[in-house]
Amino acid sequence: MSAVKLLPGVYWVGVVDWNVRAFHGHTYITRRGSTYNSYLIVDEKIALVDTVYAPFSDQLLRNISEVVPPEKIDYIISNHGETDHSGSLPALKKACPNAKHFGSAKVKETLEKMYYLGLDLQVVKSGDKLSLGKKTLSFIEAPMLHWPDSMFTYLIEDGVLMPNDAFGQHFASSARFDDEVDGSPLFEEAEAYYANILWPFSPMVLKKIDEIVKMKLPLKMIAPSHGIIWRKDPMKIVNSYVEWAKQTTRRKAVIAYETMWKSTEKMAYSIVDGLVSEGVEVKMYDVAETDNTEIIREMLYARGYLFGSSTHDNNMLPNLAMFLEFLKGLKPSGRKAAAFGSFGWAGGAVKEMENFITSPGIEIVQPGISLKFAPSPEELKQCFEFGKEFAKKLF
Ligand code: FEO
Repeated sequence: MSAVKLLPGVYWVGVVDWNVRAFHGHTYITRRGSTYNSYLIVDEKIALVDTVYAPFSDQLLRNISEVVPPEKIDYIISNHGETDHSGSLPALKKACPNAKHFGSAKVKETLEKMYYLGLDLQVVKSGDKLSLGKKTLSFIEAPMLHWPDSMFTYLIEDGVLMPNDAFGQHFASSARFDDEVDGSPLFEEAEAYYANILWPFSPMVLKKIDEIVKMKLPLKMIAPSHGIIWRKDPMKIVNSYVEWAKQTTRRKAVIAYETMWKSTEKMAYSIVDGLVSEGVEVKMYDVAETDNTEIIREMLYARGYLFGSSTHDNNMLPNLAMFLEFLKGLKPSGRKAAAFGSFGWAGGAVKEMENFITSPGIEIVQPGISLKFAPSPEELKQCFEFGKEFAKKLF
């Protein structure tokens, strides 16, 4: 992708990573690819806000060259030190050795320890401004959205907020703006992004958004570091973040289970029927078949979580254990839960799941159901009733 003019003097010079399917190790499955967005602001002084993942350094430099020779860059702003946004700094340092570098105190620490380049980074704080001539950049520290070093850069005269990872989506596209793409998959990816990355930092998200709203910044565009730029109605994604960060839920249950010989799965189907008979919206996933990213996205609005596992070595199955470990780290709150599963000669999975689930934000609201071998028709009725009972806890 070539450079794209967003506004007079403001360019997207990032790259589209069409093929990336795993992010943050393999904790995030990026089924729609991603982008690394880098923004070039050309005025009397020229500033580059964020770089791209190292394997794409040449593309970044090519895109910059379509607008200005890279050596003309006066300022580089690092909003965040993570590799996907800082990886091209070594290449950039060679291309524009005289550019001054700005970022938060924490980003300075991150970059020093990550690249050992002796970067002479000038620390900026919230409220600091950098004049480019007619245009001015202003900085807003945003710790834990989603790293301690995170910062937003705001282009005052054009009303463009560049908040790095916040408000992003892993969404590869030849389009750059939200009004150029189908809104449903885009928003689905924004939701997945919040659920899988920002959920644990919800209190900080609320605080930062409140602070920004009080600043009354005109917002013409929100230009994150991944995916599409919000310009149609930039407040829509901000308001969604508020809703997600408040842990708003609805009468919805997600069943996440793992099964050895389908007995636990049969139980799950009957539990679904019980829930549905009480008007609950349900999603059900075998965690061994579906990636965490999708299940976690569905859990964002769900008030009820049901976990199922066959017993194996007196414990739950390993994929479900890994899933619960991941979920715990996201710190959901105000959720109701219960466990179920089948066993052969001795149980154990239900108790292990209940012990594991225990966290301040997830309350076990009814005793688990544990059945020996394949469920009988009578036992499937018990599972149906189990689902109905759980449904009543979701008001
Ligand atoms: Fe926190 Fe997109 O990196």
